[in-house]
Amino acid sequence: MALTGVLRPGYIQIRVLDMSEAIVHYRDRLGLTEVSTGSDGRVYLKGWDEFDRHSVILREADEAGMDVMGFKVLDDATLNELTAKLEAYNVVVDHVEAGEQPGVGRRVGFTIPSGHRMELFAQMEKSDDGPQVVNPNVWQSEPRGMAVTRFDHALLYGPAIDEVTDLFCDVLGFRVAERADLGGAHAVWLTCSNKAHDIAFVPNPDPGSFHHAAFYLENVNDVVHAGDVMAYHDIPIDVGPTRHGITRGHTIYFFDPCGNRNEVFAGGYTYYPDNPTREWTTEQLGKGIFYYERELNDAFLSVYT
Ligand SMILES: [Fe+2]
Repeated sequence: MALTGVLRPGYIQIRVLDMSEAIVHYRDRLGLTEVSTGSDGRVYLKGWDEFDRHSVILREADEAGMDVMGFKVLDDATLNELTAKLEAYNVVVDHVEAGEQPGVGRRVGFTIPSGHRMELFAQMEKSDDGPQVVNPNVWQSEPRGMAVTRFDHALLYGPAIDEVTDLFCDVLGFRVAERADLGGAHAVWLTCSNKAHDIAFVPNPDPGSFHHAAFYLENVNDVVHAGDVMAYHDIPIDVGPTRHGITRGHTIYFFDPCGNRNEVFAGGYTYYPDNPTREWTTEQLGKGIFYYERELNDAFLSVYT
């Protein structure tokens, strides 16, 4: 098996202002499956095409945004190896006991220079409602709403993105699939897998800021269908349907009821570790982000949680 180390984004914990409204949005509109509610009120959900028990955690709070993004690593030995590499890189790590999230093994947490909390984990229980493994149908239960298949990636805003990039690449084994020159700073799209990106960072003075969580759809027809769902339910749309030059994905950006930006995303090229980094210049960045419009909009740049 070639894919080792950090495998993929495993979960994202999103802060919401009203849990009831958030559940309707993420369960009924996006189409995630509601898995459980913890004794502390956190609600756990998953995409219909995900094997693990959850990938999205909602926490009711006074302020929207992202608490943490967790990456699943190959196995427990890998978790130990990466912990040692982080400590050798002078990253302060903390340890979260198994069971703090239901069905999840021990986790190793750390704050990156952009101010975001990241975690690594190796073990999560499999879902009872995951993809079938014997004579599998294409889905176990017919998907609802926008029919998102999985939590795919996040784009985060914060300072010190070059340092963040070095940490992700030198310590965690990510590669820079695409990079945009912003005149002295860089936005980066990083991958740990065959995907065009698993996480992306854009420079911004506000530490720990959350631009969007993206959910994968099977094809561009599903992106258009998701737009229909948004219109029917009066979900505020930020941009789209359109396409990214960066990653080549078809996309719509929209907002959850408390202002967190979501994305539905389909396509994107297959990345291999020997691919060169695709580079974008400042004057072509509009085309990189919004390939059809070829210009950025103010809301995309200035609205985040
Ligand atoms: Fe995205």
